Amino acid sequence: MERLDKILSNLGYGSRKEIKALVKAGAVIVDEKVVKDNGMQLDPEKSKIVVNGEELTYRKYIYLMMNKPDGVISATFDSKDETVIDLLYPEHQVFNPFPVGRLDKDTVGLLLITNDGELNHKLISPKWHVDKVYYAEIDKAVDEKDIERFKEGIELDDGYKCMSAKLEIEEATDEGSKVLVTVQEGKYHQVKRMFEAVGKKVVYLRRIKFGNLPLDETLEEGEYRELTEEELNVLINN
Ligand code: URA
Repeated sequence: MERLDKILSNLGYGSRKEIKALVKAGAVIVDEKVVKDNGMQLDPEKSKIVVNGEELTYRKYIYLMMNKPDGVISATFDSKDETVIDLLYPEHQVFNPFPVGRLDKDTVGLLLITNDGELNHKLISPKWHVDKVYYAEIDKAVDEKDIERFKEGIELDDGYKCMSAKLEIEEATDEGSKVLVTVQEGKYHQVKRMFEAVGKKVVYLRRIKFGNLPLDETLEEGEYRELTEEELNVLINN
């Protein structure tokens, strides 16, 4: 059970004071009865709530796909930098969402944002083997030996042995390479550190796929949208 004014303000119907005014004006109907008490307790998943003649669709969870821009932190709060949550509209911020895993400040591309803790856990736990695919630009020529080492499992600078990863070369010259990397875990700076371990440097990193879900290429960096039901099913059944 939750307070009516809290439910409505979480759904973007205004401050508690504004909701009190709506109730006073007789604009809120719960289970066919005009509400008198803005603090009434109800179960939003069971009750029918109508505001200004419009039936409210209550939902507990939101699922967003963002094309994360450079320079923004994947966290809910940061004392000095802008976060991905700052980029959301208030109507989404009220759900208290958080990013699923992290992308570095300078990494761009597909970032999922949700308030569904269970799905978050499933998607970031290495146990579930969810593939994350990155397009990366590297400062030197990437070669077959690197492919082999990624496959065997790279040992990082702190001694951690990575799970097997797939490395695909799109283009390789002495001036630099374009590659795709698929990993199933998400250690801190993982892709960058994997390349460091083979003496190379990532100069650009963009996540293009999360599980079976590709980045919507029509989203500009910094833009986001809700997942469709179909996309959410793809993720859940990953
Ligand atoms: N690997 C990295 O090094 N950085 C990211 O942001 C994601 C994966």
